[in-house]
Amino acid sequence: KTRLAIFASGAGSNAQKIIDHFKNSPLAEVALIGCNKPNAGVLNIATKENIDSFIIEREQYKKDGYTDFLHEKRIDFIILAGFLWKIPQPLIDAYPRKIINIHPALLPNYGGKGMYGSFVHEAVITNKEKQSGISIHYVDEHYDHGDIIFQATCDIVTGDTPDSLAQKIHQLEHEHFPRVIEEWLVGNSK
Ligand code: GAR
Repeated sequence: KTRLAIFASGAGSNAQKIIDHFKNSPLAEVALIGCNKPNAGVLNIATKENIDSFIIEREQYKKDGYTDFLHEKRIDFIILAGFLWKIPQPLIDAYPRKIINIHPALLPNYGGKGMYGSFVHEAVITNKEKQSGISIHYVDEHYDHGDIIFQATCDIVTGDTPDSLAQKIHQLEHEHFPRVIEEWLVGNSK
């Protein structure tokens, strides 16, 4: 089976959906969860689901991106699900086109440093956009920059707030992310 690692920094609602999706899959399993925030909700999910997890410490992360550790754990692909640190070069080199991210907007707009979570939704609402959406993309050395694998859109209506938009976006993410990962793996796995 293909072994997936999920990196996350927050509540982990996307991580939960991905874990559920692959629970009985012959193709892949979520084998490891990495998190840079010791009190993040995603770590409780790891415990509850009996999935190996580890805290990502800044120093080691910057040094080698935990590359040896991930190899020891026989990780094949890395999924970023609300992970808010930039991926260091050694990790990109060790997992070429094997790391994907989900971004809560329609890239190439509303991406880049500082554009994450509610900051994205605030900017989109402030600019009176008519639509937003999600982007699933390869990770390269720039923030929110690699080739796009999948996008889905939602309409923004009068009265929408950053909070209501965040809810719509989460719904889109939960609906599409696990399936898009599966299709991407089918095209890329051993
Ligand atoms: C998701 O909406 C994801 O797109 C966003 O963080 C949220 C995590 O929610 N990611 C970024 O902003 C990355 N730049 P979750 O912890 O409930 O899955």
